[in-house]
Amino acid sequence: MTSSSQPRYYLTTPIYYVNDKPHIGHAYTTLACDFLARFKRLDGYDVCFLTGTDEHGQKVEKAAVDAGVTPQDFTDAVSQNFRDLTGTMNFSNDDFIRTTEERHKVACQKIWNLLVERGHITLGKYSGWYATRDEAFFTEAELVDGKAPSGAPVEWVEEPSYFFDLSQWQDKLLAFYEANPDFVGPESRFNEVKRFVEGGLRDLSVSRASFKWGIPVPNDDDHVMYVWLDALTNYITATGWPEEGAFGNAERHAHLWPADLHMVGKDILRFHAVYWPAFLMAADLPLPKRVFAHGWWTNEGQKISKSLGNVIDPLALSAQYGLDQFRYFLMREVPFGNDGDYSAEAFIHRINGDLANDLGNLSQRVLSMVFKNCDAVMPAFPAAPTPEDNTIIAATDALLPQVRSLMDKQMFHEALRVIWQIVADANRYVDAAAPWA
Ligand code: MSP
Repeated sequence: MTSSSQPRYYLTTPIYYVNDKPHIGHAYTTLACDFLARFKRLDGYDVCFLTGTDEHGQKVEKAAVDAGVTPQDFTDAVSQNFRDLTGTMNFSNDDFIRTTEERHKVACQKIWNLLVERGHITLGKYSGWYATRDEAFFTEAELVDGKAPSGAPVEWVEEPSYFFDLSQWQDKLLAFYEANPDFVGPESRFNEVKRFVEGGLRDLSVSRASFKWGIPVPNDDDHVMYVWLDALTNYITATGWPEEGAFGNAERHAHLWPADLHMVGKDILRFHAVYWPAFLMAADLPLPKRVFAHGWWTNEGQKISKSLGNVIDPLALSAQYGLDQFRYFLMREVPFGNDGDYSAEAFIHRINGDLANDLGNLSQRVLSMVFKNCDAVMPAFPAAPTPEDNTIIAATDALLPQVRSLMDKQMFHEALRVIWQIVADANRYVDAAAPWA
């Protein structure tokens, strides 16, 4: 962070589960944030860009047992892979949070206590279906062929549990959505969120008593916090909240909270656009300004999964084709918000067409012209610009406001498209001017 007179922009990625190696999906979410963070910094913002790892829960505990190590050793190792990815992908994040850090435990216990004090959490008994892979609860009616809607296996769980009174927040959430029409993007996903809330909300089980790998519930050692309450809180932990705690930083918190943008994949929108705002309202904390849900990548038409063995490794692709090429492809190929299909053919087509031909050609022609004929110094602006000069200069001048507005709507593919429009115009301009003649 730099000066406080600059407008600030605080954006976050989801924090990644540490039961897996980083793959294209993880790289994609963080890349989208990196793309926006870099733009905002250039545009004069004091940016805080947060990413990190989500390290608690039954899934991680099981993975550690399978690997024959303690959960802490397991998460230390896997979290490091995600930290390394930020280096290899040239991500410019300002902070990297791990949910096993002490600063985060303090924040989670604080939010828990606030919810209890305000009467929103009470002890009860949970019985129902739980999908460990999704770390989510389901009713009988929500199951599809005996599995979670994502296809994850479910197990019947019966245990004492603390409940958050989510059912009480339906009207307040709907009123909030109404008053904040930009809260969720894209709009079609916002409509899905509204329909879900309109359908009625059930109280949410927010603790688990059948395993230990989590943040202990204050004053009840039998329970650990539900991993989503724990995970979502990371966004506010990183601002230096609670201000009065051992890791508190009142100034930083006031500067950063509420966040400008939570970037998420479509699969985890409900947690961010329903549960998180409800927790925050109930704790009387300000709500983030926007949540954007992007789509999912498939690989040559197939769902990406470890069992299919078609996981796309971002490191291998950047090593093969170049990092910036890979980054460009991911941001340009698919309308941001939609699902997209990775294919080697499409990737190579983009590199050859947009980068080598259009941009490469233009740079080569302009730079070698300046180098050979102008002593490698940018020539002075022409005293009497031609109509063609004026047209292309006007188009370039109009670019920043256009790109700014597209970036604020997370229409990243469009921002690149309008920039590449200028590249094409400039190539035509050089063709027409034919300075070599
Ligand atoms: N730990 C939770 C998030 C907690 S945030 C408070 C989680 N982690 S995750 O590692 O499973 O997923 C993180 C992100 O990766 C999600 O935004 C998800 O949408 C994204 N992707 C995982 N696979 C993907 C694709 N195949 N394509 C695009 N993104 C996908 O969920």
